[in-house]
Amino acid sequence: MTATATLPVLNYIGGAWVGSSSGERLADRNPAHSDEVLGEATVSTADDVRHAIDAAAGAYRDWRATPAPQRGDIVRKAADLMERRREELARLLTQEEGKVLAESLAEVDRAIANVRFASGQGTRLAGETIPSAQRGTFVYTVREPLGVVACITPWNFPIAIPAWKIAPALVAGNAVVFKPASLTPLCAAQVVQCFVDGGVPDGVLNMVLGTGEALSRAITSDERVKAISFTGSSAVGRRLYAQAAERLCRVQLEMGGKNAVIVMDDADLEKAAESVAVGAFGATGQRCTATSRAVVVRSVLREFNDALAAKAETWRAGDGLEPGVRMGPIVDETQLLKVRAKIEEGKRSGARVVRDGGSPTRPELRAGYFVEPTIFTDVDPAMSIAQDEIFGPVVSVIPADDLESALAAANGVGYGLSSAIYTNNLRTAFRYADASEAGMLHVNIPTLGGEAQVPFGGVKDSGFGDRECGTAAFDFFTEQKVVYVGY
Ligand code: UN1
Repeated sequence: MTATATLPVLNYIGGAWVGSSSGERLADRNPAHSDEVLGEATVSTADDVRHAIDAAAGAYRDWRATPAPQRGDIVRKAADLMERRREELARLLTQEEGKVLAESLAEVDRAIANVRFASGQGTRLAGETIPSAQRGTFVYTVREPLGVVACITPWNFPIAIPAWKIAPALVAGNAVVFKPASLTPLCAAQVVQCFVDGGVPDGVLNMVLGTGEALSRAITSDERVKAISFTGSSAVGRRLYAQAAERLCRVQLEMGGKNAVIVMDDADLEKAAESVAVGAFGATGQRCTATSRAVVVRSVLREFNDALAAKAETWRAGDGLEPGVRMGPIVDETQLLKVRAKIEEGKRSGARVVRDGGSPTRPELRAGYFVEPTIFTDVDPAMSIAQDEIFGPVVSVIPADDLESALAAANGVGYGLSSAIYTNNLRTAFRYADASEAGMLHVNIPTLGGEAQVPFGGVKDSGFGDRECGTAAFDFFTEQKVVYVGY
């Protein structure tokens, strides 16, 4: 056990760190050493959510009246603080969520890039002038904030996702109620601290910690909340949208994925196998853009499986702060049991096991929630391991006859977030780009990630509403107002 002090992690409401009205606390554990408690997070009630909305509603008018370039300057300072605290934030992220330090550093960098991009939009929140069909009439549009908005975020990118939702919401002039995942309260509190230290005024950004439907219902049912940006599971996203739709509250949902890499016979197989390994085992498979299926043309199937199996051996699991460790733990016991159950289901369904990482035997892995890289092959597209999101380092290899049958298998799932193809044939690449039912496509590039200035999001059960990141984030967080002036 390391000697980390147990910190109380509090809500942030109206410019003050405060305990919840329940007085209850939840232990925040290091998933690599589950007996190590990092903090005790306050457990909020619907009343706490209402107080946070009160504070946001009270602060909104003045923040809205603050010129957008000034709002951008404040948010840019938050990015500068994140950069100054880069190593510290990354270490905390590894301890709290589990991903390895190199991945945590990359996540903090991505948060910084997103906050910087959003801050610059403060000087570019432009409308348009549109020629009027009437004489002596001038028509223009302006972008206005919505009011109080809510950002509900998951545990798997506990610094980057809050950053890329909160920053554009604030620059656009909204006041924010932030509800982070209950598994990662310390990262959430540090994100808030960066915005506060950057100069965000009291009440403009509020955070409510806790878990459960009562909290999200307090958000969806409150008329003062004008928009909800959510990242999490498809099941929760659907419920949230149904509740919010009743009162016409704007909703943006980023949900699950079952992302496929198609491997053609003309591909660079070494690169394709590396891409699938990085996509499937990186972040322990706990990301919505993870690669969870490889659809491989039969003529190269054996060679591909061998290459992928060899790569899997290099993904040593362990504590992400230790050098040489390439894959951290699963975030908690509940998730661990879900991943293990999916692996068992795959075995029962008759898929061939190339590598079973479900129950690691190395003694040092007993201290935490570990699984190791797992590969199934000869997977039928209808099997549950080929259909359901697993959120662990598990990949299903599906054989295909040709490009068209590979596309049909790749598209034949409920999700549509990200996809990739490995090929050296231009025609094949463009046919894929036409036919892939996903929001983010990749030719000879892994399914992962996204850049700060580029829209991020998916189709089908993966995404709903405006895209995140880039300028698209401002489509979500602003309203267009049209003005006709007769002269
Ligand atoms: C990434 O995969 O790099 O929840 C970002 C998620 C996504 C963000 C992923 N919304 O995993």
